Amino acid sequence: MLSLDGVEAGYGPIKALKGVTLKVSEGRIVALLGANGAGKTTALRTVSGLIRPTAGSVTIDGTRLDRLSPEEIVRRGIVQVPEGRRLFAGLTVLENLRMGAYCRTGDLTADLERVYRYFPVLGERTRQPGGSLSGGEQQMLAIGRALMARPRVLLLDEPSLGLAPKLVTEIFTIIRTINVDGVTVLLVEQNAYQALSIAHYSYVLRVGRVVLEGTAEELRGRNDVVRSYLGRQTTDERATSRT
Ligand SMILES: Nc1ncnc2c1ncn2[C@@H]1O[C@H](COP(=O)(O)OP(=O)(O)OP(=O)(O)O)[C@@H](O)[C@H]1O
Ligand SMILES: [Mg+2]
Repeated sequence: MLSLDGVEAGYGPIKALKGVTLKVSEGRIVALLGANGAGKTTALRTVSGLIRPTAGSVTIDGTRLDRLSPEEIVRRGIVQVPEGRRLFAGLTVLENLRMGAYCRTGDLTADLERVYRYFPVLGERTRQPGGSLSGGEQQMLAIGRALMARPRVLLLDEPSLGLAPKLVTEIFTIIRTINVDGVTVLLVEQNAYQALSIAHYSYVLRVGRVVLEGTAEELRGRNDVVRSYLGRQTTDERATSRT
C-alpha cells in the first residue's frame, strides 16, 4: 500500500535518509525504530510531504506522493501526528479537534463521537484549553485531531515521548484498537519494546539506513542486535513488560 523506495532526503547538505526502502501493507501496524537522529522523523515528514526526497519515491497504491503538497497528501488519507504533539494550546479541545478536519466540510458529529469513544477523557473536557491538558491527554488530543481527517494511514511520531509507562501502555492499546478498526499505522518509536508489542512488522533505522527488519518475533529473537541498535530496555519498561 504505502511504499518508500530508495528514498534520500535531508536538510541542505545534511543527508538524513540515505536510501530508505520500506513497505506498509494495508491494515498493518509497522514500526519504524531507531535511536536519536536515526532519521525517523525525517522519514515521516517525507511521507507527509513536508520534505521532498532528493532521490527515490514515496507511493500509495502505486501513485506517487512525493510530488504532492502536504494538503493533497492529507486528502489522500495520509495523516501525521507530529513529534511533540503541536497542539493549539490556546484553543479548546473541541476547537483543536475541528482543526483536524480542516481539509473537508460537512457534519463532524459522528467523527467527534468516534474520537470520544477512543478517548472518553476528551469528551469530558471539550471546552478546556488544549494547553491545560496533561501530557497523556495532549497526546490523545493530537491523535484525536488526526482521526478527524479520517485517515487511511496514520503516521505517529513517538506517541510515547515523555509519558509514564502506564500511560504509554494505554496509548498503545488505543493505537491497536484504531488499527483493528481499519486504520493502517506507521509508528515511529524509540520505545522499541512497547512498539514491538503492537507492531506486525518493524524496521530499524540507523543513521539514515534500514539496518534490520522483521516481525516482532524475528527481532526479539535477535535480541542482541536489537539491543545494540536500540539501547537497553529501562527498568520501568522491564517492569511493564512483565505485567
Ligand atoms: N531541521 C533540521 N535541520 C538540519 N538538520 C536536521 C533537521 N532536522 C533533523 N536534522 C538532522 O537529520 C538527522 C535525522 O534527524 P531526525 O529528526 O529525522 O531523527 P529522529 O530519528 O527522528 O531522531 P529523534 O529520535 O531524536 O526524534 C539528524 O542528524 C538531525 O540532526
Ligand atoms: Mg524524531
